[in-house]
Amino acid sequence: MSARISSNDLRTKYLDFFASKGHKVIASAPLVPENDPTTLFTGSGMQPMVPYLLGQRHPLGNRIVDVQKCFRAVDIDEIGDNRHTSFFEMLGNWSLGDYFKKEQIPWVLEFLTEVLGLNANQLYVTVFRGREDLNIPRDEVSADIWRDVFQKKRIDAKVVDWPEKDGLQGGRIFYYDETKNWWSRSGAPADMPVNELGGPDSEIFWDFGENLGLHEKSPWKDKPCHVNCDCGRFLEIGNSVFMEFIKTDKGFAGLPQKNIDFGGGLERVAAALNDNPDIFKIDLFADIIAYVQEKSGEIYGQDIELTNAFRVIADHARAVTFLIADGAVPANKDQGYFTRRLIRRAVRFGYTLGLEDRFLADIARIISRQYENVYPAIEKNIDVIAAEITNEENKFRKTLKSGLEKIEQYLQNTDNINGKQAFEMYATFGFPIEMLVEEAVERGCQVDIDGFKKELNKHRDLSRTASAGKFKGGLADHGEMTVKYHTATHLLHQSLRTVLGDQVEQRGSNITAERLRFDFSYPNKLNNDQLAGVETLVNEKIQDDLPVQKEEVTVAEAKEAGAIGLFAAKYGEKVSVYSIGDFSREICGGPHVERTGMLGRFKVIKEESAGAGVRRIKAVLKN
Ligand code: ALA
Repeated sequence: MSARISSNDLRTKYLDFFASKGHKVIASAPLVPENDPTTLFTGSGMQPMVPYLLGQRHPLGNRIVDVQKCFRAVDIDEIGDNRHTSFFEMLGNWSLGDYFKKEQIPWVLEFLTEVLGLNANQLYVTVFRGREDLNIPRDEVSADIWRDVFQKKRIDAKVVDWPEKDGLQGGRIFYYDETKNWWSRSGAPADMPVNELGGPDSEIFWDFGENLGLHEKSPWKDKPCHVNCDCGRFLEIGNSVFMEFIKTDKGFAGLPQKNIDFGGGLERVAAALNDNPDIFKIDLFADIIAYVQEKSGEIYGQDIELTNAFRVIADHARAVTFLIADGAVPANKDQGYFTRRLIRRAVRFGYTLGLEDRFLADIARIISRQYENVYPAIEKNIDVIAAEITNEENKFRKTLKSGLEKIEQYLQNTDNINGKQAFEMYATFGFPIEMLVEEAVERGCQVDIDGFKKELNKHRDLSRTASAGKFKGGLADHGEMTVKYHTATHLLHQSLRTVLGDQVEQRGSNITAERLRFDFSYPNKLNNDQLAGVETLVNEKIQDDLPVQKEEVTVAEAKEAGAIGLFAAKYGEKVSVYSIGDFSREICGGPHVERTGMLGRFKVIKEESAGAGVRRIKAVLKN
């Protein structure tokens, strides 16, 4: 990392810069979204902001800045190259119907060049070429603003259309189509479900130098290089989304307000500051890499296969540390399945590096110290996190070697692992199907995934995570049932505290239209009396038909009033608190029913462990 600016300083400078432009700083939302049944993870800064982009008033006003923890499960297989990470931090600034392009574009350039000192000559940008047929115009406004601000830096920025076909052509501002310059949670306009938000965007790229990516063996050697081509020369470091459209059943419509959603990859901006295209060379990974070097005796960067292993370990260790801290403990499905898969994949790549003893928890401790001042909850819970990791690591290490031998054996006479064999690898040797596919592909072979699913189905209902990584986007489903379950969750949370004591704290919550699931800290299994007590108390509060009321207060006031819930927000920051009669008071974004009498009858259907010191309750509402 450049001696000038550390990643920690970068984070602070970003928040300070936008604070100086009238933005209020908010804390990161958790990686496991609260009560959003449409998605497993927070994958962008936008997710928690959707209600405000749609017009709901944010308690802090219409200019917000944050650094959001993100996890993108779809990227897991890509980890190992020099630019992808499954976990990352996204620098975000938000205009909620306030400023728009003519402020946003100059500010981003000012931040990158004046505050961080990046050389404007190494910055390239893209804008949307429009879809007249969808009534979405060509973004000449942004192109003009970019020309202007580059001009002020004495750079004569040429505008180029169709770079994908004809290459850079000496340009600096490029028009691309909706596959590149349109942003929504589901991707391009055609992939968006009705009611989803989206908009054209303007991306910013860092140029690491024209020698990159064009070496003799490069697959891009004879192709036209352009900023989006992935040859390795350019890296996208930030993206301003002009969030102004919503998809309706009749096509695209303008939102009532025009919004800005900027997302900058913290690690990628740091790589630009480093002027080194290998993101794993930034300071945030230095101690991890040093640890793995020492432990393995291998040197990072000497051998490409081993370097990939270093990267997988560094990325996955960081992701699982943050995931477990936010409640996603290793499990067979849902979020926990990804934690499990990441730990196992890291152990597998450790094996490539000759690491045959446990090592991941040590790395988690390095990470927790690294982020101590930014995300103190990790350091606070590091013993539990380390125990979860080690437990999972030990489990898999026991079967890893024999599992790999088994794969060799299967593939001796055929180049296809059938469904039964894949199921055995999963059930007996603990190989997640995605990892087995990677092993097979590496040996030029295949896995019968459909056959595997059939086998799995025979043994249990196929969970939604078996089709890993494919999540529907779309707005949070605020359907009637999920709203009811949301209010029921508050009643359950308070009832648990009343019955079991105040050491009960929320560790996770997940709601579908069919049930609620609530994870909380408690050391022992609940006995029948305790469970019955909780259930009865919730039902009493439903019968009392208590009113549900919302207030906006500062975190300090909420604490003072005894509100429970996730105090992720900063002190002094305004938050919404929902009260249910005098019974419960909880920090939460809503929505909720108006009176508890609407909930029906509450019934616990399951109580189980959800990791060390954490219990899980599943419950339903019946009419
Ligand atoms: N929401 C935009 C993105 O994730 C900024 O790229």
